[in-house]
Amino acid sequence: MDLQPISAARPAALPIKPDIFSRSFRAAPSASRERHWVRQDPFATAFFNALSAVFPHGETFMIRSLAPWVDRVPEPLKSEVQAFIAQEAAHSREHVAMNKGLIDAGYDIAPLDRKIRAFVSFFQDASDTVKLSATMCIEHFTAIIAAEILKNPHHLEGVDDANRELWLWHAVEEVEHKGVAFDVWNYATRDWSALRRYAWRSFFMLAVTTSFFINRTLGQIELLRQDGVGFWKSARCVLRSGFGKNGIGRNVLRPWASFFRPRFHPWDHDDRLLLAQGEASLARISAERAGYGARDLPAPLPAKYSVAA
Ligand SMILES: [Fe+2]
Ligand SMILES: [Fe+2]
Repeated sequence: MDLQPISAARPAALPIKPDIFSRSFRAAPSASRERHWVRQDPFATAFFNALSAVFPHGETFMIRSLAPWVDRVPEPLKSEVQAFIAQEAAHSREHVAMNKGLIDAGYDIAPLDRKIRAFVSFFQDASDTVKLSATMCIEHFTAIIAAEILKNPHHLEGVDDANRELWLWHAVEEVEHKGVAFDVWNYATRDWSALRRYAWRSFFMLAVTTSFFINRTLGQIELLRQDGVGFWKSARCVLRSGFGKNGIGRNVLRPWASFFRPRFHPWDHDDRLLLAQGEASLARISAERAGYGARDLPAPLPAKYSVAA
């Protein structure tokens, strides 16, 4: 197994990284007012709602984990960390607004909020490196889920423009900054042996995966309980919708496993075309809102140019 320190191999792989932009995005106020806003499907909606409910505290934790490293890492990583913080702060703000919509729609998201607060407080007295390690693993999760949302239009099919725009915007930025926490972690652990780094990040990924899977599944089950669906039926349907055909969980299994390659880096997988397609979808929504009809807009790319799954 080749465990050459990643930092020694990294520069050759870096040029494919895109610039990280802080877009001045504000979600349309109508986002998430409808209770089952994903195709009127309570199970598909529960997945997105369970994520949104924990984003504000989760992303604040990630900001606080990266903030101590701003002045410790060299440029251009320092600027990327600053851009990462600006992006996550905007996501947190917009999901607070979306979560108000969920509450207006009749959901009690306090039980989900308690779970994410417990996760964050678990790390309260941890070292900067431990918090950074957890964040680096969570960022891999958010990036592979975001890439799957951008890649597979089925997930946001039948969703109103306001919600589709919010989730596409968030997905684009998650993919855009997917390497930042990993690069900071590489820098922070540059003096460790290759074996120690591999063992450490593998352990953290397994721990974070267990916590993420259990807590996000329970979060969906709780929201479905509030929809009047029983525990076992919810559990069955949540697992089927996540890991059945076209399920997000099923489709991210391979990218998730790629993290365990000894020389893994998030930008081993070049997502720049995916980002461009996400930006184009966002531009179409903005243009249509501004009153331009489909005839005024360039035709979408033929299928042969779309990103392969
Ligand atoms: Fe985010
Ligand atoms: Fe992120």
